Amino acid sequence: MTATAAISLTINGEVVEARVNPRLHLADFLREQLGLTGTHIGCEHGVCGACTIRVDSSIVRGCLVLAVQADGAIVETVEGLSDSGEIADLQAAFRDRNALQCGYCTPGMLIAAQDLLLHEAAPSREAIREHLSGNYCRCTGYQAIVDAVEATARARSGGRP
Ligand code: FES
Ligand code: FES
Repeated sequence: MTATAAISLTINGEVVEARVNPRLHLADFLREQLGLTGTHIGCEHGVCGACTIRVDSSIVRGCLVLAVQADGAIVETVEGLSDSGEIADLQAAFRDRNALQCGYCTPGMLIAAQDLLLHEAAPSREAIREHLSGNYCRCTGYQAIVDAVEATARARSGGRP
């Protein structure tokens, strides 16, 4: 039997202490032990981006990080960004522009898009596509997603949404 390890981290503003199997991925920890199922699992090997979360202000693949590696980290999931209102306008733009259908890619897509907008106020459509190229969507064809991110950038810069 594998010994569990104690970890302490901050998730969506709350300190969480837990014992985890050292091989448990952070995405599985969030979903299975904390019920934060907004972090989706698609490929489980770093390709699809469905598990994108923020760790210490950088976006990472939750399926490629072990929960023990996040010991002491500040982790933010789509639930946290949603509850705080940080991505409310982005979520509204996704809804208004039909940038989601099944919604499976959406949490990761929102977190990746927000990461871009935090670093670049007025990204070009090419830059949006490039930044989101690690997040797969099987439904939308991406056009509407790029539209929603572009509209949010414009609105945040004081322009017309
Ligand atoms: S589930 Fe992590 S990148 Fe696909
Ligand atoms: S909306 Fe279905 S995978 Fe993107």
